[in-house]
Amino acid sequence: MPAVFPDRRRLLLSGLALHVLSACGGGGSAGAAPSPAPAPAPAEIPALKAHFAAHFKIGMAADPGGYKNAVANPVILKHANSITAENCFKPASLAVSPGVYNWATADELAAFAAANGMVVRGHTLCWHQQTPDWFFTGTAAEVRARLETYVHDVVTHFKGKVACWDVVNECTSDDASSAYRNSRWLQILGPDYIEHALRAARSADPDAKLFINDYGTEDPAKLARLMTIVAGLQAKGVPLDGVGHQLHVSTTSPTPANVDNALRSVAGKGLVNHVTELDVSLYNDPGSCFASRTGCAADITGDATLLAAALKAQALQYRALFNVFKQHASLQSVTTWGIADNSTWLSGFPIARGNRPLLFDATGAPKPAARAITYDSYLP
Ligand code: G3I
Repeated sequence: MPAVFPDRRRLLLSGLALHVLSACGGGGSAGAAPSPAPAPAPAEIPALKAHFAAHFKIGMAADPGGYKNAVANPVILKHANSITAENCFKPASLAVSPGVYNWATADELAAFAAANGMVVRGHTLCWHQQTPDWFFTGTAAEVRARLETYVHDVVTHFKGKVACWDVVNECTSDDASSAYRNSRWLQILGPDYIEHALRAARSADPDAKLFINDYGTEDPAKLARLMTIVAGLQAKGVPLDGVGHQLHVSTTSPTPANVDNALRSVAGKGLVNHVTELDVSLYNDPGSCFASRTGCAADITGDATLLAAALKAQALQYRALFNVFKQHASLQSVTTWGIADNSTWLSGFPIARGNRPLLFDATGAPKPAARAITYDSYLP
């Protein structure tokens, strides 16, 4: 555990006390030099990509509109050596009609990454959301061919520019009825759609690392379902390099032990781990909030006392998570789902509400959470 030492206010007081004592000729027993006062965490923090370089890359998710604004741009340039497109690499953005693509925004992002020393995580090729309806029309054979062609065309287009792909996104069931999410892909093609997508990606770019990406891997039951899918793929020799753990979490959940368990399970299969969509919501909503938008926690961003307490809890959660991350050699990349609190999907999900889930505030300044992961001795 990190050593604990005083915050700035307590430091000032202790410094003042030392000054008064020495001015009075006091200051403790003769010959015993006072231990040097530790420095408080400064207003800025080190570049995260340098600070964590021995452990993993630091990524941030954004589209060009997200990383070009004046708040976010300096933050991503200073701290990230990996970038994920929040939306512009998804089929809804790239696939205009069969065989017709709109590359412009995604190409702009890839060029920005190359110019600024960032690798690109490609997100995502096969998902049940943000995919045009025409993907799912016709016979099963036509749908499979369309999926394989799409994956081939997109991975080929970005060959050498995208280091890894979230080939299949969120394929795991949320309940125990099946290992597989009951998506349109599953309904039309059965579980083999995952294999088809992975094989098409590998044949288009043998050097790109291929991932399955999902949320909720910190839930042991859902993790077990995902690992069943992974084991099935491995048994068939399907190309798969890693698992992406989204980690959309809150200040009270998950426990570090459950995250540790997820990373350990994947590494145990000989796979790489990436944390792909990390954010820590200020709210600890009940299940009904996600299922039916009822019982959601009320907005606290207008209450200074509640907000300060939540930001402190958030900082401690970020620290606990990064302390787990650092223990896993198999974890090669940690990406936050956004850059700074000026733009986050959580301002609209599960309900419209103020939320501040990232490491940097709405002005781009480091939050207590950013200090908590870079200064062991900082007390949020
Ligand atoms: O592009 C349209 C735009 O033309 C229109 O004017 C605007 C009006 O609302 O909507 C725009 O599309 C939105 C799109 O984001 C781009 O901003 C969609 O409505 C909106 O649903 C979409 O939300 C994205 C969501 O995925 C889609 O499910 C979020 O930004 C994005 O953060 C979120 O990301 C996902 C990951 O891909 C997978 N894991 C979960 C994560 C959070 O949901």
